[in-house]
Amino acid sequence: MHSIKEVLENEVLTGQHVTVAGWIRTFRNDRFIALNDGSTILNLQCVINQDEVDENTRARFTTSAAVKCTGELIASQGSGQRVEMKVTSVEVLGDSDATKYPIQPKKHSLEFLRENAHLRFRTNTYSAIFRMRHQVSFGIHEYFDREGYNYFHSPIITASDAEGAGEMFRVSVLDPKTPPLNDAGEVNFKEDFFGAESRLTVSGQLQAELAALALGKVYTFGPTFRAENSNTTRHLAEFWMIEPEAAFMDLKGDMDLAEGLCKHLIARVLKNSIDDLQFLDARLKEEEATKPQAQRSDMGLIERLQFVLENPFERITYDDAINILLRSKPYQKKQFQFPVEWGIDLQSEHERYLVEKHFKKPVIVTGYPAKIKAFYMRTNAPGDFGYSENGKTVAAMDVLFPGIGEIIGGSQREERLDVLEARMKDMNVPADELDWYLDTRRFGTVPHAGFGLGLERFVLFVTGMGNIRDVIPFPRTPGSAEF
Ligand code: 4AD
Ligand code: MG
Repeated sequence: MHSIKEVLENEVLTGQHVTVAGWIRTFRNDRFIALNDGSTILNLQCVINQDEVDENTRARFTTSAAVKCTGELIASQGSGQRVEMKVTSVEVLGDSDATKYPIQPKKHSLEFLRENAHLRFRTNTYSAIFRMRHQVSFGIHEYFDREGYNYFHSPIITASDAEGAGEMFRVSVLDPKTPPLNDAGEVNFKEDFFGAESRLTVSGQLQAELAALALGKVYTFGPTFRAENSNTTRHLAEFWMIEPEAAFMDLKGDMDLAEGLCKHLIARVLKNSIDDLQFLDARLKEEEATKPQAQRSDMGLIERLQFVLENPFERITYDDAINILLRSKPYQKKQFQFPVEWGIDLQSEHERYLVEKHFKKPVIVTGYPAKIKAFYMRTNAPGDFGYSENGKTVAAMDVLFPGIGEIIGGSQREERLDVLEARMKDMNVPADELDWYLDTRRFGTVPHAGFGLGLERFVLFVTGMGNIRDVIPFPRTPGSAEF
């Protein structure tokens, strides 16, 4: 058996008898089956000889029925594809009742398809997205392997809150109705499965740091969980994060690594996913045409990917960002929903202004106020890029992308034990629970840095989709964990 991708691409097969199997997209004029097997967005036209296939069998050629076709590959009569199949034998593998199958060969809303998420993979849009998600995932391993990084598996269950944001899901086997209590009347987690309060990880970074200070360069790539109650188009409760961490790397090296990764992945999808990209590009153009002129983007999807690939990312400090925002039209016309002043965390509207309106390309912002960033980030001193006269800053870097906002968050880490301990105390991070982490600073500490890339946010960017629920197979969001 051959995949449809092979059949369409491999010219040697033309003129040969081959077998393909897939799901029927459409059956036209009682003769033409458009067959798709998921290997490519393109369908193979399988032409039936009515004299050889009886009427009862033909009646079973409904949308999404599974069939196996054998026949000769001949140069295509119609336009649109190079070859088609002159079918000599066809077998229905799985019927699909046309009166009950929810996804018809017409344009459905994404909302409708999300409700039928178990079947949405059968559509062009979603099959393209998930083939591209694979290309991106594989490209991540390819990039880090090439750069000498070791794939390191950080745990999913942990007792530490790496980001200090307190947005963790608890893992427990205690009976919620009658949990064992301690002398103080609180739940006694000593009697729980792990003998301590345990949660799903929000980041593998702290463990990756331990590994980087031994293996030199590592990256994690796994599921990440955040119980933040934000029902936005860019947040999931379960998402996949890639976290490289390298010893002897400073903030500049971190930015170079992040930019290099993004560009490697874009180059890879432009090379390996061009059929899917062309489909999604056309889809986006159609969608854009329904928007008012002012909201349309000036570039198509493929054009935008090429543009990001070819241009260096802008690198600015948080101070620069605030100054640009204060001078901006939307600020002066009071069009931003959130206030702008030194010390704020940049909101998505601010990030998108910087990227889409001001610089018109990806932007890396460094030197954020210490107060709004995690405890492990390195404190800036005069002379450091990102140092500010306005208040204490840290060697953070966020990579901001058009249409998305923050796609990567990272930093150089605080390698000085005394500075780190003081900062943890400042931020009420329990040092006793992180004693194992502090050991890296006690024994052979070195400058090191890393970042976290949100896989789904990156897939949003390369597919041109607008909602993060559309780029993960089974989205988990507040109030929803179906399928
Ligand atoms: O900026 P964040 O919170 O950084 C960290 O977790 C660090 N420990 C990373 C590191 O330095 N090793 O998250 C990193 C990225 C964000 O930029 C975003 O792309 C993604 O993870 N992300 C989410 N994606 C989907 N849904 C959510 N709820 C996300 N939260 C973060
Ligand atoms: Mg962040």
